[in-house]
Amino acid sequence: MAFETINVEIDDSVALITLNRPEALNALNSQLLTELSKALAEADQNDKVRCIVVTGSEKAFAAGADIKEMSEKSFVEMYLSDYFGTETDQITKTRKPIIAAVSGYALGGGCELAMMCDFIIASDTAKFGQPEINLGVIAGIGGTQRLTRAVGKAKSMDMHLTGRFMEAEEAERSGLVSRVVPAKKLKEEALSAAQKIAEKSQVSVIAAKEAVNRSFETTLAEGIQFERRLFNGLFATEDQKEGMAAFLEKREPQFRDR
Ligand code: HXC
Repeated sequence: MAFETINVEIDDSVALITLNRPEALNALNSQLLTELSKALAEADQNDKVRCIVVTGSEKAFAAGADIKEMSEKSFVEMYLSDYFGTETDQITKTRKPIIAAVSGYALGGGCELAMMCDFIIASDTAKFGQPEINLGVIAGIGGTQRLTRAVGKAKSMDMHLTGRFMEAEEAERSGLVSRVVPAKKLKEEALSAAQKIAEKSQVSVIAAKEAVNRSFETTLAEGIQFERRLFNGLFATEDQKEGMAAFLEKREPQFRDR
């Protein structure tokens, strides 16, 4: 399917989705979020795709939800349309892993979108923020919840209440991003991480994603039980036999998703 606000390239089992509204620093409007959620659903369905990277431009991953689109809306319009709710639910339903490769601004909805992905690789130019407070609103697609879980109450409150930006180095130190790389190497590093994931057994990759995500939704005891069931269940796969045999035979495993 052809998209206007994003580009999708599929190469060697990795789908690279690039947000493409340069005139508005990739601000998220309804069209972009609809296209992005469709592209992710398609990638999830496409047997060739094993990992997904979402990125923006060098200057901006995304500078937030589109303020022009939102500014005149009423409460009733926002409430009845469940503004961005359907699209973001679809994004977080994606079963295959998604890496956010963030350069430049990741603000408001842009920061929230990056946090909907499974992990964030940032360039040294990345700037994260939840500046909605400056617009008379608050984060609306998960920022108060996901940022707090990522960096803790103190920094999350600071970001949401003052609207200040967090540089890449602080974001890494605080646990918001998994690694920081030079801006010029961002795409290469993200694609290489995605390629590594694509080489694993897809059964264990999806199990790992489900188990980590479960830790945000449940108690420790329930989460550990969930993990144990999945772990035990993986012994029903050929890939577990292959992975362990390959280790013992000192060779690379050949996973077949079985
Ligand atoms: C619409 C935006 C935009 C946005 C930038 N632009 N951010 N348009 N919505 N969120 C547009 C500008 O209007 C401008 O268009 C062009 O992009 C370039 O931006 P500049 O401001 O000229 O660039 P610069 O001076 O470099 O400043 C960059 C910036 C600033 C610091 C990122 O643009 C900024 O503060 N943007 C808003 C960030 C923000 O408040 N985000 C939160 C949005 S609310 P023109 O046509 O003038 O050239 C949100 C809620 C989420 O995200 C929940 C939704 C349900």
